[in-house]
Amino acid sequence: MNTELCDNIDWVGYIDWGVRDFHGYRTERGSTYNAYLVRDDKTALIDTVKAQFVERLMSNVSELTDLSKVDYVVCNHAEPDHSGGLPSVMSVCRSAELVCDAKCQKALNMHYDTKDWKWKIVKDGDSISLGKRTLTFMETPMVHWPESMFTYIPEEKLLFSMDAFGQHYASSHRFDDEDTLDIIMHEAKTYYANIVMLFGGPIARVLDKASKMDIEIIAPSHGIIWRENIDVIMSAYQDWVTQKQARKVLVIYDTMWKSTEKMAKAILAGAMEQNIEARLIDVSNDHMTVIAAEILDAAVVAVGSPTLNKTLMPAMAAALTYLKGLGPARKKGFAFGSYGWSKGGARDVEGYLTDMKVEILREAIECQFVPTEEVLEECYEAGRMLAEKAMASE
Ligand code: FEO
Repeated sequence: MNTELCDNIDWVGYIDWGVRDFHGYRTERGSTYNAYLVRDDKTALIDTVKAQFVERLMSNVSELTDLSKVDYVVCNHAEPDHSGGLPSVMSVCRSAELVCDAKCQKALNMHYDTKDWKWKIVKDGDSISLGKRTLTFMETPMVHWPESMFTYIPEEKLLFSMDAFGQHYASSHRFDDEDTLDIIMHEAKTYYANIVMLFGGPIARVLDKASKMDIEIIAPSHGIIWRENIDVIMSAYQDWVTQKQARKVLVIYDTMWKSTEKMAKAILAGAMEQNIEARLIDVSNDHMTVIAAEILDAAVVAVGSPTLNKTLMPAMAAALTYLKGLGPARKKGFAFGSYGWSKGGARDVEGYLTDMKVEILREAIECQFVPTEEVLEECYEAGRMLAEKAMASE
């Protein structure tokens, strides 16, 4: 495996082939925790890995240099998937200074026993010379936590971008030109939607700064390193931060005795009358990770649940709670669903949509027990209307 980014700058992280859950995100293709070693007159380790994989990190570093010779350990982000290895690393790299910003120091002090650590606190724009190369620090609050920062090596035009531009993708390849771009972009989009969609504003500010920098390599903390397709991922991020609307209709539903499913399929059929992208998602079969990625660029959405115990079904409640936290923006749509002796499902779905600031296009479509031909016709027409709204959005 090729792990060399440039002369004496190497990937020393961990490939986590088996991880399938990342705080609720289903990581079907695993992940990596990327750490990097920069060897110059002085040596710097950029980030670590999850605590349970730190021995592999230290073994990777040991193959390149004596651990006692590490001068700096940079922590760009305090989340434990990157900082978990710090206690072990700092206990072995005795002479190393921990480089981070003040907010990160505060977070690390709350996570770990740091009393024996030596610190070098940096702020936006500060630099450390390693000899021929320089580490320059750029504070990136909320990308992905308040204390996050990027590290840039201007002499190599190399940006260590932390969570930004990352993907949960375990691969035997480290670079974008060695792997399949469609898969990398699919995972980058899924990652954006599920990890940082809520932070579009801060990411837009970072993109603005990055667009003025000379960058030839983007080395994120998860997944593949960018060196051939930097324009592709930057352009995609520009679309994602603004949640650029595709002409796409999503029909998301849960069902108990197939009545709400029939309504969902009638809405989809109406939407498909137009030549646009339309997708049917059953929350019992499709994980909310997939739904988040699909909703990122969908212009319009219809969401349906039958009534169970006077409210919506539990899988739909979980999916909508998750989506509400991620804050998809600029969506339009409506709710639908069947009920038995008591209403509640469609009403509570509409409540979630309203909380998510979805523009409600029409009253909820409801039917008792089994949809009649009239109800299915109403669903079909509502689907046609959704498609027209999608066609009109940009
Ligand atoms: Fe990969 Fe926000 O940690």
